[in-house]
Amino acid sequence: MKVTASAPAKVILLGEHFVVYGKPALVLAIDRRAYVSAEIREDEKIYIHSEDLGASGYFYSGTFQVEEGGQTAEMKLKPIETVIRRILTLSNKNVGINVIVTSQIPVAAGLGSSAAVAVATSVAVSNVLGLKLPKDEIFQIAYDAERIIHGTPSGVDPAISTHGGVLLYVRGKGITRLNVETDLPLVIGNTGIIRSTGELVARVREMRKRYPLIINPIIETGGRIVKEAIDLLKNGDLKALGELMNIDHALLSAVGVSNEEIERLVYAAKKAGAYGAKLTGAGGGGCVIALTPQNRLVNVVRAMEEISSESFAAKKTEEGVRVEEETYDP
Ligand code: PMV
Repeated sequence: MKVTASAPAKVILLGEHFVVYGKPALVLAIDRRAYVSAEIREDEKIYIHSEDLGASGYFYSGTFQVEEGGQTAEMKLKPIETVIRRILTLSNKNVGINVIVTSQIPVAAGLGSSAAVAVATSVAVSNVLGLKLPKDEIFQIAYDAERIIHGTPSGVDPAISTHGGVLLYVRGKGITRLNVETDLPLVIGNTGIIRSTGELVARVREMRKRYPLIINPIIETGGRIVKEAIDLLKNGDLKALGELMNIDHALLSAVGVSNEEIERLVYAAKKAGAYGAKLTGAGGGGCVIALTPQNRLVNVVRAMEEISSESFAAKKTEEGVRVEEETYDP
């Protein structure tokens, strides 16, 4: 039997960085997914192949045998192995597993690719072993695996990949799902610059330490933007939402996490007719999102493509993790 599951990528619509200081953030699942196929092996090896990570190999009896990807392969595949082992333990089965990962989500760009893979792995492997895990448990297993690579992530990435839709996230208080009926047509442009979220968070912290009377009000304003945006989302007022995204981006620039590549994408998007554009996630590279009127999507994609070849239209998706296909051997 083979099971294929998929889970969506995410973008932070508003609130990154300020969320570190207790302000809310708005996160949405987008229609780019990671796909994971799982099947049982005759032996007890765990074989993982990930096209996007350019890594594959076998985990068995405490060793790793690399097939592709050299010395970094084991480290890259470890979170996926962790998910598989947790589920094997839960199932009480002494079998091996083959897992094949393919993904439409750019890697290391702040779009939650690793969480989507962990969540989809959790569902594909549990289903192939005959376990039907509740979503809370799928989230928890993926979150624990995420901690191996990201230290202390907020948990928002595996949450949005599991549940889909739009989430309001407040650090320490958890996640609330928002009912947003309106479509949110976005264009995403990837600067291609790999950045360290930890370093960018530290940069803002440093800035706040040096200029508390200036930075604290910026953080306050960031929080207010999210609160106002919730009503705009409910009413489908995309024009005003775009304006708030522009203000939020200016605040993020003010705290030092934008750069020239990000600004070029932001300006190109706005010039081509986007309602608003901003960096998403940690900044310093990664992606830019542009909220765009439907009739301007093609123009905005084209304008952003001139700067980054990895530019694409995306929209909100309500669907979190799902089983795509179950096939049985004859
Ligand atoms: O780069 P991403 O998408 O993982 O987002 C980081 C978001 C920050 O607010 C900068 C950090 C955090 O932990 O919330």
